[in-house]
Amino acid sequence: MEVEGAGTRGDVDSLPRGGFRCRLCHVTVANKPSLDDHLRGKKHQRLENLRSVRQSQELRSVFVSGFHKGTTALELSNYFQTYGKVLNVVMDKDKGVYAIVELQDEEILQKVLSQPQHSLGGQKLRVKPREKKDFRYTPPRKQGAARREQLSPEKLAQNLCQVDDVDAQMSLVVQLFEFSETERRLRDLVVKLFQEVFSEFFPESAILPFGSSVNGFSISGCDLDLFLDLEKTKSFQASARVAGKPQAEEEASPEMESRSEDSILTDIDLVTATVPEVLELVATVLQKCVPGVHHVQVVSTARRPVVKFCHKESGLRGDISINNKLALCNTRFLQFCTEADERVRPLVYAVRYWAKQQALAGNPFGGGPLFNNYALTLLVLFFLQTRSPPVLPTVAQLKDLSDDGELTLVDGWDCTFPKDPASLKPSGNPESRCSLLAEFFHVFESCSFAGCAISLGEGRSLPLSDFLLSEAGRKFKVGPINLQDPFELSHNVAANVNEKTALLFQRCCHNAAKYCRSLQYQHKSSKGKIWGLVRLFQPGGPQAAERLVISLPWTPASQSLCSHEQLPQSRDFHQLWFQRVRAGVSFVLEHVLKCSCSEKPQGPGEEWEAAGSDQEEEQLRTKADQWSVGSKRSLDMEEGGASPPAKKPRADTSLPTTESVIWSCTVWHRVWLGRRRVRRRFCSPEPDPKQTVDPLELEAKVSEAISQQDGETRPVDPLFRFTVCARTQDGGSGEQDTHVSLSFAPVPEQGAVFQDFFHFLQGFLPQMVERYLTTKSSGLHTPEGNPSQGITFELR
Ligand code: UTP
Repeated sequence: MEVEGAGTRGDVDSLPRGGFRCRLCHVTVANKPSLDDHLRGKKHQRLENLRSVRQSQELRSVFVSGFHKGTTALELSNYFQTYGKVLNVVMDKDKGVYAIVELQDEEILQKVLSQPQHSLGGQKLRVKPREKKDFRYTPPRKQGAARREQLSPEKLAQNLCQVDDVDAQMSLVVQLFEFSETERRLRDLVVKLFQEVFSEFFPESAILPFGSSVNGFSISGCDLDLFLDLEKTKSFQASARVAGKPQAEEEASPEMESRSEDSILTDIDLVTATVPEVLELVATVLQKCVPGVHHVQVVSTARRPVVKFCHKESGLRGDISINNKLALCNTRFLQFCTEADERVRPLVYAVRYWAKQQALAGNPFGGGPLFNNYALTLLVLFFLQTRSPPVLPTVAQLKDLSDDGELTLVDGWDCTFPKDPASLKPSGNPESRCSLLAEFFHVFESCSFAGCAISLGEGRSLPLSDFLLSEAGRKFKVGPINLQDPFELSHNVAANVNEKTALLFQRCCHNAAKYCRSLQYQHKSSKGKIWGLVRLFQPGGPQAAERLVISLPWTPASQSLCSHEQLPQSRDFHQLWFQRVRAGVSFVLEHVLKCSCSEKPQGPGEEWEAAGSDQEEEQLRTKADQWSVGSKRSLDMEEGGASPPAKKPRADTSLPTTESVIWSCTVWHRVWLGRRRVRRRFCSPEPDPKQTVDPLELEAKVSEAISQQDGETRPVDPLFRFTVCARTQDGGSGEQDTHVSLSFAPVPEQGAVFQDFFHFLQGFLPQMVERYLTTKSSGLHTPEGNPSQGITFELR
């Protein structure tokens, strides 16, 4: 309630329990005496003065455009001096598009405005009164204060591991990612700034935010999607044109007459102009007239063409579109869903972040074959509609519940749904966030996407063949995933998703669903290991392990290991070759790179269950997980090094034979850094051709020297740990696999540093093992062997 009274009292609202709020100063006080103090106080008096100065300036100022680029404030001032005293001229930042000319009093202003035509330097000027704006005090803000520090994955993992259960982790994800109050306010200010400038050029236009800034799924730093609504401007322009015609002169208001002449709109007819033409104009206004805006670019090839921009002070990037009313509507719909059930936000945030980490979402420049956030969100909403009992109603059900039975049509599509989510009955579904997330993955791991169109309207998958015969279906762009927009029924929101992404999505859902069945997902680790969402959010997820593979092919050098009777195709040779490679890998890791390794060989007649399968990945990862960061346990086999994964006796000898071994390794120093420099120290500039250097020994010396640079040969804490599984397989019926594959699995939270090491190993390890096979051919497990045969090779 506004407090009655003269002057300053109009700024005060009374609050429940006797308090007051001063809207001018954004100050809340507890009682009447405090209010009186505030109103008499310096801050309030200063702002009141500032407001009256601004208001009086506004009443005496004109908005001028149409002059030559490069016209100076002085030239403008000189021109307007002919009508009376000019107090100030404020130019736009590029000094070429508009200026605010402050005159001494309103009398001079009237003289200026009554002049039918103004021209300067041969250019016709547009001169109009200033838009009247409410005075608003903006508390001082530190530069970039609204930009929250980017949350690193490590910090996120740390925070998430500390809470008690997955439900709490999911709420925390929302808290950590959503806008802070400052960021929200900053965005409001940027929107107001745009609004102010655009209403000068496009009278009665509205700038309306949509998408993640306002739909309930804000992510700190996300794009600012804006819709420039020019509907009223079009009507304004039409009436202004009529007003400009002589026969209608007496019907037009003086204000309209002056604005019609003075607006940039005289250059364009909004009704007949094409979208790219209007966007070009929007881009010009943005570039030249909005303070702080840069990198303006029209993208007219998008489904919804936009002007992209950056705003320097806030650090925000965004888009402005002009034909996207449906987006306002679906933004309200998403907002409605978040308010309808409190599980919606945590679930959407978790799925979005998971998808980003798995490289399923996040097209860098808008286009691309990945999911956009809108599509992912709709997928979650659809999933919630299909729970039993449903968490959310279908769009069709919402239409029936609509407040007054009134139809809301946007671009010809029925967008009716109730305004107030409080009118919905609470869902009877008792599922927790944690189990809903697990179920989300479970549902989509086996969903037959290709044959159906996912309909949020009906809350079910429609058979694609039938749907395509419907009116909406005929224009629908079919893809590997068909996700119908809830309102624009002919739009496939996932049309850009390609076959590869769709397959990867299902695979990732499968891996995630599997993980969600484990205790590690459901229960907090009592031993400080990562658990719950943290593992789900690992970049690349379990499939990353698959990519951490180095393949060591069979080469002619290997032939020299075998006697002439042993043919490369024979099983004996296969086994012997594997043993040599295994010795080589072990030698390179331990002796050359100074890692600690413990090996668990496989017994005869035993093999890994389904080599390369999810189980093996899981075994490797589980093993890696057992070594949490900072653990100082010895890696010897009995004490928690590699224990063999589940084995099964070979029952059928015609099945492929798998040779495999697993090592658990610890890396103590960054032996992959600066090797070239250290190596130079050990190589004389003019090598004696008679003296050969064993490259393996040389590389061992390099590693040793790098370790010693660190001071300690064996520090208390290792740098990181990983497991590596070497395996080879014959295809049964005598067909031998011709490579040994090494699958690596780092301890998950040490993934980043491991990546560097792995990158180095990809080049180093195959060369070194090859070298080992050619030079150390006698003795399976002894590193000592034949002297170097002087083969040269290049190392980074
Ligand atoms: P985004 O996919 O960018 O979603 O679409 P978002 O929630 O804003 O996420 P950020 O910006 O990536 O963080 C932005 C908005 O564009 C509309 C929707 O209103 C969506 O919220 N949109 C997007 C559509 O109407 N249809 C589409 O196919 C895609």
